[in-house]
Amino acid sequence: MTQAKIWAVVPAAGVGKRMQADRPKQYLPLAGKTVLEQTLNRLLQAEVFSAIAVAVSKEDPYWPKLECSKHEKVITAAGGKERADSVLLALKSLRDQASDEDWVLVHDAARPCLTSTDIHFLIESLKDDEVGGILALSSHDTLKNVDSIRITETIDRSKIWRALTPQMFRYGMLKSALEAAEGNPAVTDEASALEMQGFQPKIVEGRPDNIKITRPEDLALAQFYMEQQ
Ligand code: C5P
Repeated sequence: MTQAKIWAVVPAAGVGKRMQADRPKQYLPLAGKTVLEQTLNRLLQAEVFSAIAVAVSKEDPYWPKLECSKHEKVITAAGGKERADSVLLALKSLRDQASDEDWVLVHDAARPCLTSTDIHFLIESLKDDEVGGILALSSHDTLKNVDSIRITETIDRSKIWRALTPQMFRYGMLKSALEAAEGNPAVTDEASALEMQGFQPKIVEGRPDNIKITRPEDLALAQFYMEQQ
């Protein structure tokens, strides 16, 4: 049997409304480059991926201007309506090269502080797993269920984890789970599509500096983490 290859998929077709910026958040400046370039550099530096498929919006004027869009390991795919649609389109763009048993790491364009340590730790932890899994963080805060503005209960936080990316699954399994879940708004990450098929993806503890740029203040925090790393 030939050894399974490892591919990366980066959904980068979102508009990032919560940033209130003049352009999608993946194109905002961060430490001398755009957020998306920083993210792709992190993936390229890990030196484990056969190729990286990046899903971008059709009307995106920024992507073709970035040098990394022409990198030999980078494949451009079309983006979709929701994140899950973009991931599925990127997976389909790898159809002729990837086999069902290959691994795919899906990583948000908006998480530029990902370290090689986390990438290698995730792959090492899951390479013999039947299902695959995700980087995640346990919750240190006390968590509340809220009805409008009033607390209805306190949640047992020992069982709560925050899902990060990369999320690592077999190419064939992930593609069919996302196809089966198409149009379902509850699929906000890859693991949830697998869960709907009855699988139980594994949790691998990630680093807290792997933040997702969501609000304007996150850019300064990301810059701080990058300097510290
Ligand atoms: O908006 P949010 O931060 O949850 O988006 C997570 C990632 O999914 C971002 O990298 C964003 O560009 C991507 N996305 C996408 N296609 C969409 C919506 C979001 O590729 N339709």
